[in-house]
Amino acid sequence: MPTHLIILAAGEGTRMASDKAKVLHEIAGAPMFIHSLISAAGLDGRRVLVVGHGAEEVAATAKSFDETMLIAEQKEQLGTAHAVAAAAPALSDAGGDTVILLGDTHFIRPETLEKMQDLRKGGADVVFLGFEPADPARYGRMITDGDQLLKIVEWKQAGEDERRVRLCNSGVAIAETGTLLRLAAAVQNNNDAKEYYLTDIVEIARAEGLTVKFVTADEAETIGVNTRSELASAEAAFQSRARAAALENGVTLQAPDTVHFAYDTVIGRDAVIEQNVVFGPGVTVETGARIRAFSHLEGTHIGDGAIVGPYARIRPGTELSSGAKVGNFVEIKNAHIGDGAKVNHLSYIGDADIGSASNIGAGTVTCNYDGVFKHRTEIGERTFIGSNTLLVAPVKVGDEAMTATGSVITKDVPPGGLGVARAHQENKPNFAKRFFDKLRAAKAAQKKG
Ligand code: UD1
Ligand code: CA
Repeated sequence: MPTHLIILAAGEGTRMASDKAKVLHEIAGAPMFIHSLISAAGLDGRRVLVVGHGAEEVAATAKSFDETMLIAEQKEQLGTAHAVAAAAPALSDAGGDTVILLGDTHFIRPETLEKMQDLRKGGADVVFLGFEPADPARYGRMITDGDQLLKIVEWKQAGEDERRVRLCNSGVAIAETGTLLRLAAAVQNNNDAKEYYLTDIVEIARAEGLTVKFVTADEAETIGVNTRSELASAEAAFQSRARAAALENGVTLQAPDTVHFAYDTVIGRDAVIEQNVVFGPGVTVETGARIRAFSHLEGTHIGDGAIVGPYARIRPGTELSSGAKVGNFVEIKNAHIGDGAKVNHLSYIGDADIGSASNIGAGTVTCNYDGVFKHRTEIGERTFIGSNTLLVAPVKVGDEAMTATGSVITKDVPPGGLGVARAHQENKPNFAKRFFDKLRAAKAAQKKG
């Protein structure tokens, strides 16, 4: 039987003090609810996202990550049980089990979900995930008896004794789909906040004679983001885990605390990452590559043994083949740099293909944009592009061809040929000496007068 997923992401997130929906705020380069989606990547059923605040934008973002995502709109945010009810039409005929994740609680490990599924298989009808935070703050409290979960009391409703309980509700739950939807529909809003609390399903289930159990996880997994400060903590927690994982996988980080990873960064064994490197989304670095200090990379594949930086900016659509080198103050966008090719100094290479073993001189610029359209520059293998060449795209330089330093190349250069496009040099003997003598004399006369 499949296991489905509901992610609750309709809330406004008032405490973020933001114009955009809370779940769109990013952790490691991905909107926070996407991390919930990643946690649940191992589930094999339907995925339903409940949207409300910023519905259109949240739905569009979700679809851009997973186009099969089902969207359920919760027009008014009347509470988490009400949100689950909004997802019911998408799941009523689905069978199997359903896991609920909160859009503001991101780092649940797949192993934790498996533990919950195991309890289900062991006969528990409903399973919640709890944790014991250092500061239980305003989390809902879990009242237990042995391995049974008796009830969850929301902080607002809790009495003093209940508030002293340290076991808190993470919001993650699993049950058989039909049971879950039926229990959520039965929740009433007779509390001070007039909210439909999903946590009330514990007592409703028990009253029906169902078994409700719980598992626990580390606080690092279950921390919820409600404020900018918690967002910063979640980012820090993500980064420290990503650094530890990279080190564990055989990546050298020379100053781990200064390296920033994205949610999907992949780095091969024996790669070396120097200080102050930032990875945006979509980066893969192959084994043995070296990313030198102060480089910024996004949307790129860095081949084995390639060297990037220091101070390089690699933008989306870039592929560096094996052993390619990109040096300081170089920007590369949407370009392929062939095996062992070098772009070592102060260049902009955009919308270009550079063949293997070519050498691109300092200050080379591919002029890819005419103000309306983007055009490609195609450079062959083993070429030599002279320093300060401007390549006005669309333009091609053939294999083993060269361009003269300082050329503005507007026409294709044939294979093996030389493209020169600059004025001829003329020397004027003694000109400089006469010129400066005249100026200095004029200055001396000015001072006297
Ligand atoms: C919830 C739990 C609480 C738990 C805490 C863990 C309930 C009633 N309370 O409280 O026991 O300790 O999470 O972080 O479940 N949402 C909707 N529609 C709504 C209301 C909320 O989609 O009508 C979504 C929000 O976007 C958010 C999630 O559900 O992603 C949780 O809502 P939030 O208001 O943050 O609940 P908490 O008060 O944190
Ligand atoms: Ca919350």
